[in-house]
Amino acid sequence: MSLWKDYPWVRDGLHKIENRLKYEVNSRHRVIRDILLGLVEAGGKRLRPALVWISGEYSGAPEDKLVPMAAAVEILHMGTLIHDDIIDDADFRRGIETTHRRWDNHTAIFAGDYLFSKVFGLVTDNSIFQDAVRTAKVFRLICEGEIEQYFSRNRVSTSVRKYLSRIRYKTALLFALSCYLGAALGDISDREKTALRNYGLHFGMAFQIQDDILDITASRQQLGKPVANDLSQGIYTLPVIYAVKYSKEREKLLALLKMGQLSEENTCEALEIIKSSGAVEKSRELEHKFIKKAEKDIIVLRDNKYTQVLNYLLEYLSDGYRR
Ligand code: IPE
Ligand code: IPE
Ligand code: MG
Ligand code: MG
Repeated sequence: MSLWKDYPWVRDGLHKIENRLKYEVNSRHRVIRDILLGLVEAGGKRLRPALVWISGEYSGAPEDKLVPMAAAVEILHMGTLIHDDIIDDADFRRGIETTHRRWDNHTAIFAGDYLFSKVFGLVTDNSIFQDAVRTAKVFRLICEGEIEQYFSRNRVSTSVRKYLSRIRYKTALLFALSCYLGAALGDISDREKTALRNYGLHFGMAFQIQDDILDITASRQQLGKPVANDLSQGIYTLPVIYAVKYSKEREKLLALLKMGQLSEENTCEALEIIKSSGAVEKSRELEHKFIKKAEKDIIVLRDNKYTQVLNYLLEYLSDGYRR
């Protein structure tokens, strides 16, 4: 957790959340327990629970509510990862084999469902009715974002606007919810809650753009998950959309994309065209705009150790998670 070396109060919070995660995934069923404990212990950045914790500390929320709520958003996230990996046919997650590859699709579906059931137990037990409803709504919108992405596969005519709407649903709203749930457990003004929520939303937009850039530029080892997977699945993310628009080798790229399921060689060729087209730099520019928006969102908040860490997280994101 070197990310938090200068922020021991976040590290301590995450330590408590980690224990709670292990407790929550301790199913009576051995297979479910082994899968879920394996996924928890494999790590992950824990950004969503960290945001619940930071917003909660800012708002003076009680720890006995904050810990289970932070665990709930990470559990929701883990459930979506297990199901997302089935859909994306990914073989690797958090540096270990994905659940459906290690077991099978049916078992992975059960494991994800088990996690979703846990989320709603935790949220109803530890927050007010409206926030449980809010969580259910975000969960529905994540599903709609993922479904929308699935049915847009191999569609080269997709636009930046559609892409942004999709990532808002599938990713950014959960970051917004994380900030909101932490804030709502404490005692701050509606204006402050909205500022934190908007920060989460814009952070989440930048985060998914970054993830989509890394799918093109990073290595499997760096990410602990497959690279170029979006492309090989016919999912056209921001760098691909920009390359189709601006690359000098547009026709060649389109011809490759039209082949559908790309071979390794064709994927490499498509990646080279995308990388040399300036699309990655352009994507970074848009990512940066969302980071700037998030920075602005929290200007209205009191300047203290909590807002400092929120700004620090924006730097971490813009540096490509290098800490
Ligand atoms: C992966 O999220 C899914 C996306 C929304 C891109 P993370 O990159 O936060 O995954 P972990 O939790 O660190 O494994
Ligand atoms: C996943 O987006 C978002 C979810 C809702 C799980 P990605 O498909 O880009 O996430 P990774 O790259 O597999 O982690
Ligand atoms: Mg995926
Ligand atoms: Mg991805």
